[in-house]
Amino acid sequence: METCIIVSDLHMNYGHVAAVDGVSFDVDYGKVFGFLGPNGAGKTTTIKVLTTLVHPTSGNVSIFGKDVVKNAREIKKRIGVVLQEPSFEGNLTVEKALDLYGIMWGVAGERRRDRARELFDRFDLAELRSKKNDELSIGQRRRVQVAREFMHDMDLLFLDEPTVGLDPAARRTLLDYVKKHVHGGLTVFFTTHIMEEVEYLCDEMAIINKGKIMAIDTPAGLKQKYGGVKAVEIKLRGAKAKSVMEIVKPLAEGSAIEIPAEDTIRVSSAEAQDMLVKMIQALAKNSVQIESVSVNSPTLEEVFLTVVNGGS
Ligand SMILES: Nc1ncnc2c1ncn2[C@@H]1O[C@H](COP(=O)(O)OP(=O)(O)OP(=O)(O)O)[C@@H](O)[C@H]1O
Ligand SMILES: [Mg+2]
Repeated sequence: METCIIVSDLHMNYGHVAAVDGVSFDVDYGKVFGFLGPNGAGKTTTIKVLTTLVHPTSGNVSIFGKDVVKNAREIKKRIGVVLQEPSFEGNLTVEKALDLYGIMWGVAGERRRDRARELFDRFDLAELRSKKNDELSIGQRRRVQVAREFMHDMDLLFLDEPTVGLDPAARRTLLDYVKKHVHGGLTVFFTTHIMEEVEYLCDEMAIINKGKIMAIDTPAGLKQKYGGVKAVEIKLRGAKAKSVMEIVKPLAEGSAIEIPAEDTIRVSSAEAQDMLVKMIQALAKNSVQIESVSVNSPTLEEVFLTVVNGGS
């Protein structure tokens, strides 16, 4: 049994709003699946169906080989969920909140204390353990919310924008902690708006827009497919970029020529390799020496914008 999540033709309507409109995808065990899309695309709604919180309007969802509607209780026991909206008792201390969570999941006394100790350490919460939730900053609360989910063992974890409000160090800590558990066999369904996180963590990703999946592939595969334009950059030796503008301009075919540094020219092109060859030839012909060249791949952010805006 290789597949952890199987979603086929999932629809979820809120009245007349088709929040999820015919979505299908699979996630294998031990993989991280990234779910991206603009605000209101249907990410949280999909998570709510997959975590048994709401019933789908139509379609099939199977988790661990079991139907999500018929076997909700059984599935719930083996999953963890960090929802987008924070949920906790404001009056509880961090320590108490983690302990209660452990009790809720039936984690025995000693193990509960050990686990909490590890999480305080890992998520840098030691100093906050006797603070009440209401006294925490937004990022601190988010860290507690994610940490407490790890109080119990699970096979599948849903994280809905878990890094919102986290500083870069806390974000990296969280991603690394998740990564470590993935290596231990955990499967993760992850939403975020931050492309670097997808690149860092996800084996596969889908881009959803208006309830429909627009693209699905590995991050590298999507970059290749939708990358399109690449930037050609040439660093000159002993010459100023401005002085070679007249040589380069006729080759740029209308695209803007940038000067990111005094000795560097950059041109964007859909045929970057050809453009690079032509530029090198023209510069050589004019006896301009070249220090280095590069062709930069598109970022995932560019891919996202291309997919969501329907191509450029
Ligand atoms: N409880 C609800 N009642 C009615 N409509 C809803 C409800 N929850 C979500 N919607 C609508 O469903 C659509 C999808 O919302 P959803 O929360 O799934 O988006 P999202 O991709 O998670 O967005 P975000 O990035 O802002 O979190 C939106 O049009 C939203 O207005
Ligand atoms: Mg959401």
